[in-house]
Amino acid sequence: MSATLSLQQLTEQLDALEAEAAAAIGQAADEAALEDLRVGLLGKKGRLSVVLGAMGRLPGDERPLVGQRANVLKEQLQGLLKERLDEVKRAAMAERLERERIDVTAPCRYVPPGHRHPLMATIEEIVDIFTGLGYRVAEGPEVESDHYNFTALNIPEHHPARDMQDTFYLGDGHLLRTHTSPVQIRHLEANPPPVRIVAPGRVYRRDAVDATHSPVFHQVEVLALDEGLDFSHLRGTVTTFLQQFFGDLPVRFRASYFPFTEPSAEVDVQWRGRWLEVMGCGMVDPAVLEGLGIDPERWSGFAAGLGVERFCMVRHGIDDIRRLYTSDLRFLEQF
Ligand code: DAH
Repeated sequence: MSATLSLQQLTEQLDALEAEAAAAIGQAADEAALEDLRVGLLGKKGRLSVVLGAMGRLPGDERPLVGQRANVLKEQLQGLLKERLDEVKRAAMAERLERERIDVTAPCRYVPPGHRHPLMATIEEIVDIFTGLGYRVAEGPEVESDHYNFTALNIPEHHPARDMQDTFYLGDGHLLRTHTSPVQIRHLEANPPPVRIVAPGRVYRRDAVDATHSPVFHQVEVLALDEGLDFSHLRGTVTTFLQQFFGDLPVRFRASYFPFTEPSAEVDVQWRGRWLEVMGCGMVDPAVLEGLGIDPERWSGFAAGLGVERFCMVRHGIDDIRRLYTSDLRFLEQF
């Protein structure tokens, strides 16, 4: 330990400490430096403690003089540390605000907006028209049983209508559905009439790809079953729908045949001067209702089905169905 120091020496040490500490604190650059200074000056083993330790060896009447001086200095240094700490923090915040400043005038990075595929937009538009007429959306599975896809729709085995709807077979009586009509059966099984549904979905046929055929395509099915529905309701509903979709064009019904409707019709619209066949429809065949245990004397209704690709292609003047599936942005960005 150091030799015994006199009152005067201790007072001088305190003076020196005051001057040095004030300078060091004033120059401390950050919080960490200030903390180091605090520990070095005021900590248990700090310089002030050393002076106080030496004070113990002074004669009793001199001790209070040094003690008082030391206490004043301690408070002084604490004050200086606190002041400098505030300054340093303020400066750090100002520096950070400057560094992280956001340039609201900088040009943004361009992210091209995505949008719906024209096919999906067409489905939505068709469904919207029917929901506007009070129809609810229904759906069914794409893997169907022979029963729902054919038999329940009055298409028994060996019926020629099956030849026109060859598809992909999964064995065990299952296949990829060839149309959305099975949704009619599934919906009526689960929901007693009256029903009004619109059923969009993907369907499959064993067709070679060309400009107008694809083995995977989309249909929308419509079914209304209620008391007192007749062909005029079918005609009115289909005409209203087509004129909402295509505009106020001439619409004509031609007698046709579908196993699950009787009478049946195909519907044409006059588009740019040509009659275009756009959908099939008819009054639900009583045989279909009987198969479901629904009394055809009481309940009657109509069904209709359409190909979404055709609607989309006619509306947008698209010449090749394959354009709808190849995801060529140069094509898709036009919509
Ligand atoms: N399911 C028929 C097809 O894919 C389309 C169709 C015709 C649906 C008449 C109907 C309908 O609901 O009444 O060729």
